[in-house]
Amino acid sequence: PNTPSEYYIPEIINDEWQLKSNQIIVDGDEILGEGAFGVVHKGYIRMVDETEIEVAIKMLKGNSSVEEIKQFEHEIEIMKSVGSHPHLVSLIGCCTKMGHLGPFLVVEYCAKGSLLSYLRAVWEQLAGQPSESRYINTPCFAENNHTENNFSNKLYLLGDDIILDPQDLLSFARQIALGMEYLSGLRVVHRDLALRNVLMCENKIVKVADFGLSRDVYQDNVYLKTGTGKLPIKWMALESLSHQQYTTQSDVWSYGVVLWEIVTLGGNPYATISPRDMLSILRSGYRMECPKNCSLELYAIMRQCWRDSAKERPTFHDLKLMIEELLESDN
Ligand code: ADE
Repeated sequence: PNTPSEYYIPEIINDEWQLKSNQIIVDGDEILGEGAFGVVHKGYIRMVDETEIEVAIKMLKGNSSVEEIKQFEHEIEIMKSVGSHPHLVSLIGCCTKMGHLGPFLVVEYCAKGSLLSYLRAVWEQLAGQPSESRYINTPCFAENNHTENNFSNKLYLLGDDIILDPQDLLSFARQIALGMEYLSGLRVVHRDLALRNVLMCENKIVKVADFGLSRDVYQDNVYLKTGTGKLPIKWMALESLSHQQYTTQSDVWSYGVVLWEIVTLGGNPYATISPRDMLSILRSGYRMECPKNCSLELYAIMRQCWRDSAKERPTFHDLKLMIEELLESDN
């Protein structure tokens, strides 16, 4: 199906992606997301023919430093250079001037929000309890996923009309691999691939978001030392934790964690391990075990993503093919 971005970007972008403030309507009440230094609002873009299109508008918070503004502008530049792909959240336009709104970044709106919250809602529906309950009063995550067994049922029901089956989970994995394959082909390293950064649109289409955001943030070693709690430790490859090295192959490691998040319907990776122990635990060879409802084939893919040696991990192209093989063999 036509994604909104493919459909409307060429009409809006005329003068180098710049939008005027009066083309933008921000829904001040609806916050879609909030990060360390930015806020994402729901909004609308007014088209030449007066019609309005739903968008997501990312803005800096009021008291941004020069460094944060620079990073934001860098994110915009990366998004411009990446262009449009069906499984990446595309740029629609931006305003780099310091107006009453700007600088801001306008991206396509993904109506279903993050895949993480979506899958957690499915889990809650099935388990009849809040998703966080999986981690309360349990010394060990592995002992507490008895409810996961129910999920080998063929259908995951959410609400009245949404049906999700195990094939859909593999399809999400495939779509993320497609988006990442494209990104890696452009030599863009995501650095923060995690299920919270995968957004869902209509028709079970998912898209990788925030791929411009963390590039410079984590490139800067100083950031690692000073920015407490801002690094996605549990998604980070061994070499990122130990040497601040970020490559497409460290994105592949994160993709392995994303597979784990998908198959556990939004589980909390390494739930019982403190972030500060992660490096030594991974160095000792520990890896997450196979989730209860996960096929051994899919688990084997995760384990390949988590190989010590970055060179020995599969590429996103390999991953796409492996997931497609699973999708075919399931039929
Ligand atoms: N949350 C953050 N970015 C979003 C987007 N583009 N669409 C929907 N929800 C979002």
